Amino acid sequence: MIHKKLDNFPEGFLWGSASAAYQVEGAWDTDGKGKSIWDDFVRIPGKTFMGTNGDVAVDHYNRYKEDVALMAEMGLKAYRFSIAWARIFPEGTGKICQEGLDFYNNLIDELIKHDIEPIVTVYHWDLPQALQDLYGGWENRQIIEDFNNYCITLFENFGDRVKYWVSLNEQNIFIGLGYLRAMHPPGVTDYKRMYEANHIASLANAKAIKSFRKIVPDGKIGPSFALNPGYPATCNPEDVLAFEDEEELNAHWWMDVYVWGEYPIAGMKFLKEKGWAPTVLEGDTELLKEGKPDFMGVNYYRTGTFEKNPLDGVGIGGFNTTGKKGTTQEEGVPGAYKTKRNEYLETTNWDWEIDPTGLRIGMRRITSRYKLPILISENGLGEFDKLEEGNIINDDYRIDYIEKHLRACKEAITDGVDLIGYCTWSFTDLLSWLNGYQKRYGFVYVDRDEQDEKEMARYKKKSFYWYKDVIMNNGKDI
Ligand code: NOJ
Repeated sequence: MIHKKLDNFPEGFLWGSASAAYQVEGAWDTDGKGKSIWDDFVRIPGKTFMGTNGDVAVDHYNRYKEDVALMAEMGLKAYRFSIAWARIFPEGTGKICQEGLDFYNNLIDELIKHDIEPIVTVYHWDLPQALQDLYGGWENRQIIEDFNNYCITLFENFGDRVKYWVSLNEQNIFIGLGYLRAMHPPGVTDYKRMYEANHIASLANAKAIKSFRKIVPDGKIGPSFALNPGYPATCNPEDVLAFEDEEELNAHWWMDVYVWGEYPIAGMKFLKEKGWAPTVLEGDTELLKEGKPDFMGVNYYRTGTFEKNPLDGVGIGGFNTTGKKGTTQEEGVPGAYKTKRNEYLETTNWDWEIDPTGLRIGMRRITSRYKLPILISENGLGEFDKLEEGNIINDDYRIDYIEKHLRACKEAITDGVDLIGYCTWSFTDLLSWLNGYQKRYGFVYVDRDEQDEKEMARYKKKSFYWYKDVIMNNGKDI
């Protein structure tokens, strides 16, 4: 549909940028912090690109003031960051670590001092290793209580100043990669275990949202979902059905539960036949229904194209971690669907299809199905940026990418999408979980190649100045 062009983004629009604790902080064992599952996982040979880890990351723990000053210079309205659970509770539960609380209190105050709205993610994949060791982490219902206690601590300590909260970041990814593809901790490959762990994570999410209502009644909370809107490969009804199967198992499987507390019917029937369905106990559905979010957080990078998968029992695909096009393996669900390359779309060097219209499509689908406001909690381009003479970084490709996606946002707003903000991924360059530091997303280049890692100089890329202008004009020229 072509609507009347929108001049500006809505007033009070959250022009933001995002990060995650493990990817920026470093200081992995400083000031009493406990180990997370990532601290151990990255030490298993072959798991990450050349064994890179987040021990030092981009040293944000020590340089947060410098980073916030750069945000202020840019005119950023919102900064989304995550809290490392093991900084607050080194053992996952029990004794609180005051230094951990102090760090985040200081960061929040620093942001507010510069009129930057803090958006806090409570869980961005770094589960305390102690809980993994003690009872198997997300596979044990005890985590619902422990996660709730951790969240209550955050809401009570920061809820006076933090009004926007993200509960679980990309539950569909940390569960999928952790329990089916063994690419994230705990490195499991098992459909049944994946769906069980996922159900428990959904219960934990709902319970934390219930607690939030009592402690921060004037705040807003929602999960961040990794949205890969699907397309059928052709108009062959078999492919269209495969695409619908994919939407059922990849999108509705999570979002229906967040919003309605119920699993989609065809998906549940399929998983029961396979023997993979989660165990839903008495009271679970009621709890899920009580944990409805205020908005849907959307992390968007790409779409997926799907065709019928006639085979039952194909292998599980992988991700491209090389930065060379064409190295991604096929993925799919046995007996349901498999992916296909979309010939209409260009790809990044990591084979991620570039599809701004897909973002509009995805937001429209969420709006008509769930009727919730949307926060784009992540969107951005990972590339090999080059530091040129004079410390200049000409990342025109990033400007082009973000501009096109912002245009899609504007069009989605004209469609009736209630979009409250847009956070780019990321503000500074940071650790890419599996790709090390070669894949850069930031507006600010971090020079980790210097001889002395401690230097970590920050340089503003061309996109920094461009986004500053966009914010200043509230997106008028998009
Ligand atoms: C989603 C995740 O939330 C973030 O941690 C990650 O680095 C980006 N996607 C890019 O892959």
